[in-house]
Amino acid sequence: MKTQLLSAQCSTDLTQAAELLKAGEQVAVPTETVYGLAADASNPDAVAGIFTAKGRPANHPLIVHLGDVASITEWATPIPDEAYKLANAFWPGPMTLLLPRAEHISPVVTGGLDTIGLRVPAQPVLLDLLATHQLAVAAPSANPYKKLSPTTAEQVMHGLGGKIAAVIDGGPCQHGLESTIVDLTKRPFRVLRAGPITASELSAVLGETVDAPEQHDTVVPGNVGSHYQPNTRLQMVAADLSDLSAPHPEKRAALLHFGDAPTRDDLVCIAMPDDAARYGQALYHQLAQADQLGVDEIWLAQPPHGEAWLAVHDRLRRAVS
Ligand code: TXA
Ligand code: MG
Repeated sequence: MKTQLLSAQCSTDLTQAAELLKAGEQVAVPTETVYGLAADASNPDAVAGIFTAKGRPANHPLIVHLGDVASITEWATPIPDEAYKLANAFWPGPMTLLLPRAEHISPVVTGGLDTIGLRVPAQPVLLDLLATHQLAVAAPSANPYKKLSPTTAEQVMHGLGGKIAAVIDGGPCQHGLESTIVDLTKRPFRVLRAGPITASELSAVLGETVDAPEQHDTVVPGNVGSHYQPNTRLQMVAADLSDLSAPHPEKRAALLHFGDAPTRDDLVCIAMPDDAARYGQALYHQLAQADQLGVDEIWLAQPPHGEAWLAVHDRLRRAVS
């Protein structure tokens, strides 16, 4: 299959993307977090095609992306008041709400679970596409299973070119890390995946504490220990680079560091931003770049800790080899 590269700036391209989706094809779409691999969420065969293209196990649940808050009633029931409080505060935006699924939802979408993840994305072109064509799309990140999530259309092509109908190029993603997933099906409410919106921000809106365990015990297919991995072996190194010994003489390494660039000719040095949001935005992109250098190892200087860095550390824990 030839994967078409469509432009988010071109209305005929966007009409074509909507037609492909309605015809049951898989189309990669930009979101404000990472690129998603979308298919019509009301068409189980179309959704099944996502799993084939990604090589993803069939029991891993997908997030359904909606064009507006009101549509959640078609996908989830019952809906607690807290869902609307959070939706009104953070949607469109990088937050996925886990709710009890409506009875008619195909198990293909939810991996057979009785809950469903819903989100209204803040990427204007995607949002307009969903709202104008009355579409809801199931969309995991648009990467082959376990690999790095793409934050550019080029990166999607690199991983899934030839396996999907089209990619809409909407430029680099604003956040660069996947959405915060909040479980509203049990009390206390919990963050199941750290993301751009922190537990403190969620708690402030609800007026009650939303837990954010560093590692939670909810066994969900898809929340796997090794994930988001570059092909090259990735290791964390101490933030203080002065002690860093040179790689084995036959090995070449790339170093993702922040702060002042170390002057070392034994390493390919890649500078990272030093605030959490910009670091998160750059992370997958820079790992993907380093992956293509043909080095033997990627070294990553340990980033700072603290709530703003939780999502970064969550992804890094799963990315190290
Ligand atoms: O930012 C994002 O959330 C991106 C963009 C494309 O929206 N999507 C994304 O999807 O990251 P995916 O499939 O790569 O990751 C979704 C995670 C998986 O770990 C999955 O197990 C979990 O969400 N998930 C989805 N539905 C769930 C459910 N009903 N219960 C528990 N976990 C669920
Ligand atoms: Mg993913």
